[in-house]
Amino acid sequence: MIRTILTYPNPELKKKSAPVVVINDSVRELARDMAETMYAAPGVGLAAPQVGVHQRVIVIDVAPKGEPPNLIVAINPVITYSEGESFEEEGCLSVLQYAANVRRHARVIVRGLDLEGNEQTWKAEELLAIAFQHEIDHLEGLLFVDHLSPLKRELFQRKARKLAETGVPP
Ligand code: NI
Repeated sequence: MIRTILTYPNPELKKKSAPVVVINDSVRELARDMAETMYAAPGVGLAAPQVGVHQRVIVIDVAPKGEPPNLIVAINPVITYSEGESFEEEGCLSVLQYAANVRRHARVIVRGLDLEGNEQTWKAEELLAIAFQHEIDHLEGLLFVDHLSPLKRELFQRKARKLAETGVPP
């Protein structure tokens, strides 16, 4: 089932998510719905708080268009190692009509559980590394715009207010 994606400035997006304690049917259903919602959007990643569920679950698929899907479901993901720098443009399904370059690590190692409860280690670089960092941020109540310089953030907030008032971007 496709769920509604909450958008900035919904305060639910600022809340920290709690670890999943038991991977039960509701967690499996959540992950299934999140993947469906991400693919329908379409997007390359989604975190549970974006659909109003404050549990540490993320889904990612950075497979290029035209290639078979490569869905990652990560439960309680933790970045255990990071190195290098990147500065790439990001958007977010919860931040409408706005994209900006964000400083991230170029490579990360992420540990977490899959839907079967098995420990997984994901070694990520490029777009996948950015997606992990972006989605794990959501679990901490952070959006990519929280990484912008004060000036850029101000410009973003002005745009967002305008968009909220008029329904069209300035
Ligand atoms: Ni996002």
